[in-house]
Amino acid sequence: MRIDEVQRQRDAALAALDAVDDAAALEAWRTAALGRASAVAALLGQIKAVPADERPAFGAAVNAARQALEAAFEARRAALEARALGEALGSDRIDVTLPGTLPPRGGLHPVTRALRRICRIFADMGFQVYQSREVETDDLNFTLLNTPPHHPARDMQDTFYVTDDVVLRTHTSPGQIHAMREHAPEPLRIILPGVVYRNEKITARSEIQFTQIEGLAIGEGITMADLKGTVENFVRRLYGPDRAVRFRASYFPFTEPSAEVDVSCMLCGGRGCQICKGGGWLEIMGCGMVHPTVLANGGYDPDRFTGFAFGGGVERVALLRYGIDDIRHFWANDLRFLEQLR
Ligand code: DAH
Repeated sequence: MRIDEVQRQRDAALAALDAVDDAAALEAWRTAALGRASAVAALLGQIKAVPADERPAFGAAVNAARQALEAAFEARRAALEARALGEALGSDRIDVTLPGTLPPRGGLHPVTRALRRICRIFADMGFQVYQSREVETDDLNFTLLNTPPHHPARDMQDTFYVTDDVVLRTHTSPGQIHAMREHAPEPLRIILPGVVYRNEKITARSEIQFTQIEGLAIGEGITMADLKGTVENFVRRLYGPDRAVRFRASYFPFTEPSAEVDVSCMLCGGRGCQICKGGGWLEIMGCGMVHPTVLANGGYDPDRFTGFAFGGGVERVALLRYGIDDIRHFWANDLRFLEQLR
């Protein structure tokens, strides 16, 4: 009977310990279950009053109960401590086996990469890069390139005027005059990359700012055959050895004769597709033999020197290479677009 009471007290204390969830509650439990005012203490105090024949069994039961409670207390304390430690580690843990966080890496713009490829191809043919200014006089952008103020060809390009006679260059061609005046009468073989500006409506096919690359070769005895060979070699290195190249008669004020260069569509191989609008050919640049007036404006004697020139857009190269259908992506600075073209 008395022993039943011991076990009941023990079980009640153990049940209370189950609900203990932090150090303060654990300390309160210890006072209540094992302290001087506890049931166990009271039972210990009763041992002497128990009849002698029952006393050993009763005493053993009380001691066993006390030990059980002490052991349960220790186990609970250890569990709470381990949990607290785990929480501290969990919020400040370093897993040295995880891959590190890479710092974001920049990349070259697709137009820059296209320009570099083009420059490399021309470098192999002995062309040097000539950098020229983006803000030009009206004279250099037009007049000295054989496009006087009332020449109808000025309508071909809508111009941003800075002042009455200063413009944002509408093409890289004025660089030809700068380079010629610096080097005449030495022979010249240069390419002129750079940004140009046109006051146009922005659409999927036209931007107000884009990139051109221009070429110029001047010397004695340069012919249209040199132009054709240079352009064909360039096109096949850029677009592949199987590309066909076609020269179509055209007009530019600064060249005579002038031509436009078409390349057989690299996407359909010339059979006709959406990119080449079914025609099988893509127009990639203008070219021609440098007009005698332009040679003279650059300081070369047109009776002694001849030369060829060519020029075209660079975005278009990247556009065709990656199958992009909207030129506006290039300068929208959307990393989601640019990162796809790495
Ligand atoms: N400047 C011309 C344009 O912007 C392109 C061009 C055509 C450049 C013929 C040339 C050339 O050097 O010979 O459209």
